[in-house]
Amino acid sequence: MLEAFYCKAGIDCIADDLVTRIKRAPRIADIFKGQDELRLRRLLKQQFCYMLNGGCAYSGCTMKVAHKNLGLQTADVGALVEDRQAAMRKERVAFFTQNHSLAKFAPMKREAVER
Ligand code: HEM
Repeated sequence: MLEAFYCKAGIDCIADDLVTRIKRAPRIADIFKGQDELRLRRLLKQQFCYMLNGGCAYSGCTMKVAHKNLGLQTADVGALVEDRQAAMRKERVAFFTQNHSLAKFAPMKREAVER
């Protein structure tokens, strides 16, 4: 189905949409329960904008510190990447830009995954 959705701040929408998707994602929703959702939304917006060369600065923790003791596995990253792709598709991010941004996020997997 075609998702008709207009948003001026496309990057913010991608981050918001991602958090909404995470919350209903059966594979990873539990990991986010009890976390500070407002902070997560704010920092994901900053990080997305920074990674997509939108001219923002990221003010959150390093990926190693942020994900310490969450016991994340490779499969969790896979689930998150799928949600991230879906959120970008919804905002009609060009395919090469999607790939470019995912490639930039890829090295962070090493810092976030503990097991
Ligand atoms: C590898 C790519 C990932 C990136 C780029 C990323 C990005 C971020 C960012 C920017 C924050 C906020 C940091 C802060 O609070 O200062 C964060 C926190 C968090 N992330 Fe990730 N993340 C990744 C993978 C994952 C995965 C796979 C999961 C779980 C399925 C996850 C779960 C969480 C949770 C629960 C928090 C909140 C931690 C807290 O507030 O203590 N992340 N992430």
